[in-house]
Amino acid sequence: MSTTTGNTDRHHITDPPDFPGARSPRCPFDPPTQQADWRRARGLREVRLTNGRTAWAVTRYDDVKKILSDPRISADGRRYPQLMNSDRTEQPQAFPRMDDPEHARIRLTLTGEFTVKRVETMRPHVRSVVDRFLSELVEAGQPADLVHHFAQPIPSTVISLLLGVPYGDRAFFQTRSATLQFTGASPEDKKTAHRELFQYLVGLVERKETEPGDDLISRLMKERVATGEFTAREVAMNSLVILHAGHDTTANLIALGTLALLRNPQQADRIRETDDPRVVARAVEELLRYLSISQDLVFRVATEDLVIGGQLVREGQMLTVSVPSANRDTVFEAADTLDVGRDTRGHLAFGYGVHQCLGQSLARVELQEALPALLRRLPDLRLAVPLQDVRFRHDTATYGVYVLPVAW
Ligand code: HEM
Repeated sequence: MSTTTGNTDRHHITDPPDFPGARSPRCPFDPPTQQADWRRARGLREVRLTNGRTAWAVTRYDDVKKILSDPRISADGRRYPQLMNSDRTEQPQAFPRMDDPEHARIRLTLTGEFTVKRVETMRPHVRSVVDRFLSELVEAGQPADLVHHFAQPIPSTVISLLLGVPYGDRAFFQTRSATLQFTGASPEDKKTAHRELFQYLVGLVERKETEPGDDLISRLMKERVATGEFTAREVAMNSLVILHAGHDTTANLIALGTLALLRNPQQADRIRETDDPRVVARAVEELLRYLSISQDLVFRVATEDLVIGGQLVREGQMLTVSVPSANRDTVFEAADTLDVGRDTRGHLAFGYGVHQCLGQSLARVELQEALPALLRRLPDLRLAVPLQDVRFRHDTATYGVYVLPVAW
């Protein structure tokens, strides 16, 4: 029997399966095995989320695009407080969990910082950060953990500098972010981690008011708080969102992407041997598509009764989007094959619609710099343990590996 309360339509009498579900140990890069069956079946699948509530899993490419662009489907976290980490009485709402026009008002104040043009000016800095951590990886001696020495520090350093968050505080913000990411953390632990991060950023924002720097927080204080457009607490919340979203995601893709390339050496060679940035850019898009790390991150709620993918979804019911499954749908030929030369136009790794990833240009530049530099500097890079000993992140909102021991 269905035991939980999220969906009120009770066509299913068996216990709903868990979302996102288990991945095959044989191919840890493939989406959870059962999602391929849901994708082929009619309608949507009722599933149980990690917090015990039920939702409709959306696994087909076309359905995902539809629900992420349908104004009757809401991202507003106030409609599903049970999935929120923040305490609404203490903190302002985070803009990714708002609908337009409220969401657009805040997002538009930030987009200028993340345009392709703006992010391109950061490429030389990103390159030097990559070089620095490559050297530190080599100095660490082999075997070394690629997550700790390379994948994690690159995006953390870049986002810290962009925001104006001291990199020396990384242990503080990385541990809180890890709790927010961990699907097994209790709601109390998540709320505490969120509150601590928020308070930390409130303190930082206050300091920037008197000691501004050349960074995003200082610019927001000067250009938006001084004009009355934002409160300082809203700046702290926007900074929290960017800090949290901006380091762990890219770190996971650098590490998982490296592992996928080590398991597909011919694909790695194509990246290592080219001097054409367009070839690298294309390869990065394919890694984004093939690995689609946002496994338990994209939630919505229906604001009225509607039919999606042949399924009646009632007002108030939750939807959980499987980006990994949608990106393996038949719109991509031989979708389960990693082919770094393929055309991946239209992939959904950064989502779709008004909430499409704000930091995608930055993530792209980081990946385009990190992966070829690693493969070229360490041409004999290899996994230092058997694949079955690698601990995959089945239990976090974005997929990846906890530790990646490598030798060269
Ligand atoms: C490989 C790296 C990344 C992946 C796969 C990724 C994926 C995503 C996805 C799927 C969404 C849509 C969520 C939804 O519709 O509910 C999203 C939104 C977002 N991402 Fe990323 N992201 C990455 C890197 C980044 C970086 C580097 C930043 C910041 C600098 C960032 C900031 C954001 C923000 C602020 C949103 C919310 C946008 C909104 O609601 O308007 N992301 N990301």
